[in-house]
Amino acid sequence: MSHHTFEELAALHAIAKALAQPWDLREQLEQVLGEMSTRLGMQRGMISILDRDTGEAVLEVAHEIDLEGVDVSYRAGEGITGKVAQTGQPIAVPSLGQEARFLDRAGARRHLENRDELAFLCVPVIYDSRVVGILSADKPAGDVTEMDRELAMLASVAELIAKSVNVLALEDENRRLRRMVHPVNGSGLDMIGQSKGMQEVYALIRHVADSATTVLVTGETGTGKELVAKAIHANSPRSKGPLVMVNCAAIPETLIESELFGHEKGAFTGAFRQHRGRFEEARNGTIFLDEVGELSPAAQAKLLRVLQEKQFQPLGSSRLVTTNARVIAATNRRLEDCVAEGKFRTDLYYRLTVFPIFLPPLRDRGNDIILLADHFVLKYSKELKKPVKRITNAVIEAFLSHSWPGNVRELENCIERAVLLAKGPSIEMMHLPPSLQIGGHEEPGRHAGKLGAVIGAQERSMIVEALKEARGNQSQAARLLGTTKRIVQYKIRKLGIDPAKYKAARRKG
Ligand SMILES: Nc1ncnc2c1ncn2[C@@H]1O[C@H](COP(=O)(O)OP(=O)(O)O)[C@@H](O)[C@H]1O
Ligand SMILES: [Mg+2]
Repeated sequence: MSHHTFEELAALHAIAKALAQPWDLREQLEQVLGEMSTRLGMQRGMISILDRDTGEAVLEVAHEIDLEGVDVSYRAGEGITGKVAQTGQPIAVPSLGQEARFLDRAGARRHLENRDELAFLCVPVIYDSRVVGILSADKPAGDVTEMDRELAMLASVAELIAKSVNVLALEDENRRLRRMVHPVNGSGLDMIGQSKGMQEVYALIRHVADSATTVLVTGETGTGKELVAKAIHANSPRSKGPLVMVNCAAIPETLIESELFGHEKGAFTGAFRQHRGRFEEARNGTIFLDEVGELSPAAQAKLLRVLQEKQFQPLGSSRLVTTNARVIAATNRRLEDCVAEGKFRTDLYYRLTVFPIFLPPLRDRGNDIILLADHFVLKYSKELKKPVKRITNAVIEAFLSHSWPGNVRELENCIERAVLLAKGPSIEMMHLPPSLQIGGHEEPGRHAGKLGAVIGAQERSMIVEALKEARGNQSQAARLLGTTKRIVQYKIRKLGIDPAKYKAARRKG
């Protein structure tokens, strides 16, 4: 990336610009291949997407090749494209006519007479350290001076398109996933998500549901802790019994003990009659203690006794109540911190963490974000009776780069709002809350951002060098760079260069 010529940089800029257009993803990528052809002489560009399940590379976008009715795919290791997909290493072929590995599945070069005079370049498209696709093109061998140089150029293009290619790959994958009938997670509840982290959660739910073991569900707010509690209950032998939900943070500290364990008439001011606590209500069922970290010390002591001896005393009573309720607790706090701060009993902490289930934050669930978004679009378009069917690519990109501090709940609210606002069949950027609109623009993908910055810096130093050489004369600098004065003027403005400085610098030095 360190020695691009001015023409190459201009091409990379044109490509970055095409990728910033509000077009359909495929149109953007076709435009990129077009720029490669006109500006870099790289003809018949092709972008294939790697199918993660089968390892096959499937041709998705092509330039100067008619793909109508042709289905082109390469198995792992098959042909040059398949080889690049498999190894993640670029391959250059100096002459197509003499290369046995070259399969020409697309049939685009069958009728070319100059096959021998064509070089073939093929590089992996890497996103998040994974090969997500393959970018290839032909170039007349006569125009190639250095093969490595051409590969480096194509690799720079691959870096720029990586994020878009990843989105295309995700779309394909989602289409497949939707077609697949997968046993959701055995819970019969709609828990959406196929990421590794969630698969582990499903396995833990299945594993623990049968027993009466105490479970502690942890995870940031909105990650689905309540849903997990419901899934465990629904899959347990107690599913016909009650599931009693208690939000410990929503009940005043003075009332929590009575709420959970009940009280006798006259146990405290205002206790006019006897009250059965939630633990008694949960007999033969499950009690879900949400925000368990908020329990008062007295309630903690009683809960500990319940977990140890299955017994407790209602407030103001000498009666000992036995309970068989299964306890599932949840917290979005780090309970070990509460213990360290002396706010949570150590012995209770150990009793609760017998079987912990950690729910990963949404930002760590990759593709699940899109599966969940689709799920909520369906849910709210039905509920709100609006014909919203899809999410635009720009929105998908914004979703993938957002950090989702409110996790699944935030995504759900965001989609509900967007479905409400949408006028047509699709959710667009303008239907998103401002936090997401900004996020989407400010983080144009790690790779593209990095490359963009490098290109900018390199372009700047080339122009500055030329201006120094030309003593601030822009026409002369343009000639030195092999470009037009208009372009140099444009770049000077855009990059904030002061040409007058170089007149002075030369005179002084
Ligand atoms: N995996 C999931 N699939 C579908 N919906 C989910 C999922 N996880 C969370 N939700 C939904 O997101 C919202 C918040 O979930 P909730 O269980 O209340 O989170 P928490 O208790 O961790 O704050 C709920 O409407 C829930 O139905
Ligand atoms: Mg909750």
